[in-house]
Amino acid sequence: MNAITQDVASAPTLDLAGSRLAALNAWVAEVAGLTRPDAVVWCDGSDGENAALIAQMQADGTLLPLNSETHPNSWLHRSHPDDVARVEHLTFVCTSDRDDAGPNNHWMSPADGHSKMDGLFDGCMRGRTMYVIPYCMGPIDSPLSRCGVEITDSPYVVTNMRLMTRMGAPALARIEREGRFVKGLHSIGELDPERRFIMHFPEELTIKSYGSGYGGNALLGKKCHALRIASHQARQEGWLAEHMLILGVENPQGETHYIAAAFPSACGKTNLAMLIPPQGYRDAGWKIWTVGDDICWMRPGADGRLYAINPEAGFFGVAPGTSAASNPNALKCIQSNTIFTNVGVTADNQPWWEGIDDGNEPALDWRGEPYDANKRPAAHPNARFTVSAKQCPSYSPEAENAAGVPISAIVFGGRRASLVPLVFEARDWTHGVLVGAAMGSETTAAATGAVGVMRRDPMAMKPFCGYNFADYFSHWLSFDNGENKLPKIFHVNWFRKGADGKFLWPGFGDNLRVLEWMIGRVEGSASAVETPIGHLPRAEDLNLDGVELSGEARDVLFGFDRDGWKAEFDSIGDYLEEYGPRMPQSLKDEQRRVAGSLSH
Ligand code: GDP
Ligand code: PGA
Ligand code: MN
Repeated sequence: MNAITQDVASAPTLDLAGSRLAALNAWVAEVAGLTRPDAVVWCDGSDGENAALIAQMQADGTLLPLNSETHPNSWLHRSHPDDVARVEHLTFVCTSDRDDAGPNNHWMSPADGHSKMDGLFDGCMRGRTMYVIPYCMGPIDSPLSRCGVEITDSPYVVTNMRLMTRMGAPALARIEREGRFVKGLHSIGELDPERRFIMHFPEELTIKSYGSGYGGNALLGKKCHALRIASHQARQEGWLAEHMLILGVENPQGETHYIAAAFPSACGKTNLAMLIPPQGYRDAGWKIWTVGDDICWMRPGADGRLYAINPEAGFFGVAPGTSAASNPNALKCIQSNTIFTNVGVTADNQPWWEGIDDGNEPALDWRGEPYDANKRPAAHPNARFTVSAKQCPSYSPEAENAAGVPISAIVFGGRRASLVPLVFEARDWTHGVLVGAAMGSETTAAATGAVGVMRRDPMAMKPFCGYNFADYFSHWLSFDNGENKLPKIFHVNWFRKGADGKFLWPGFGDNLRVLEWMIGRVEGSASAVETPIGHLPRAEDLNLDGVELSGEARDVLFGFDRDGWKAEFDSIGDYLEEYGPRMPQSLKDEQRRVAGSLSH
């Protein structure tokens, strides 16, 4: 035992042995020895524990109570103004071989990564309490689920993890049974952007995150575990960990198709997952069931179909733009028991953000200063709500099914003002993998940096794939093994703009019209036109009853711009080349095939 551990062991308040799993106790002791907290708390996830944490955070100003008549049991957290989004430039994947992380990740050697992080963690919890949070990603009894333990010095993280994961005693019991778990160590540190890193050690199933309290950086079950570490595990174990929502579409005959869709952050996952059918569809009996809004883990079942679970238990959604008109289900979710981060407030302490359209006026902005439209928006553009999925009126009972739900269609999509039509269908799995690999999207406020810049974001995983994209595409291709009954693959673009700079497609509830066409394609009843980029519907192939589209909108949303696509495919070819010989030949061949057919 080293001197540090002895020092901690002699401190009477520290209960380092909270588990029957020796490896877990040993790791907690090692972390406490390094970080030197005043106390260690093993979280059981109980109501009492949560109430005590909230009372403590209310007392020290971390959480501000919102209007208890309009928003019972709901809280506002104002983050440090420099800590409002994910930080991709400070996020690293540390693999022994640099090529295993790939050009898609920032890399550091595991030795350098650990020594940098351990230097930051050294003594950082002095005067603070260290919380040990056992959690399960996915239904507690599902073979598809995986567990982790997050150690943090932030009670805000504990209460958020309680909403976002199955956290506490049942998770600990599963970890003790299985003997394995992902280790996540987090400290808010000094919230200094100069001392902030999010590091992943996939070979050790370990995460170390320092200096940020923001969701994607600090709630380690989410992007760090369920995407970066899990994508690495999934490749080894033959499944997929994806940045996808999962929804069920029930038709008037009572049949439900499940669809998984990958869109980059702040490009419409939460909204699509909670879609309200247009009036005509509602009258006819169409229903949407929400399974998940951000992450999807799937693997082939005995029948060869892909079965998916949502590893999360809650939503960490973008607040701005959420209104009774755009996403009534989300709005109903967040009427109570919700933590709001970086929204504005009205004079009577109701949460407020741009686009809420509730007739109220903001009094204070997200920094707590009097609202001044000329100074800054009331809510930060990446302001978020955290809420249990159980509060969602459209939450699917199947979300708790240990076996997962069978996926009929996979959808890729980005934010593309030009070129990309409303929807098209890939010819086959290999072409679909290319469609996903070729995804581009304009950047959003979900990560720090410029907004609105077009970049390649394959399968919406650019910030989240824990290994080399070339190997990731090979892994995707490997599912087409002659035995699996794979879903059809589609591409959508809700964000095409007209000459006036306005969106051409109404989006939101009307996106069901596009989903209905996809289901028609899966069932063999809907028509399409063959083009070099895939099967494109004509406007008359969709039910557009009651949708007002100008002639321009129709031409553009359902059109195919051969010259534009030629240039796009040249750029996709260049992109695939950046990965060198590791890029699977069959994907490069597919790109050449499409590029070739665009030339004549
Ligand atoms: P997520 O981060 O991928 O879950 O994205 P959200 O569903 O939270 O949406 C992010 C932003 O895109 C919000 O401002 C939404 O209002 C907007 N959005 C979502 N769906 C649509 C759509 O179909 N059309 C348009 N124009 N905007 C959308
Ligand atoms: P999202 O990601 O924008 O995909 O919901 C949350 C995050 O930024 O951590
Ligand atoms: Mn979301």
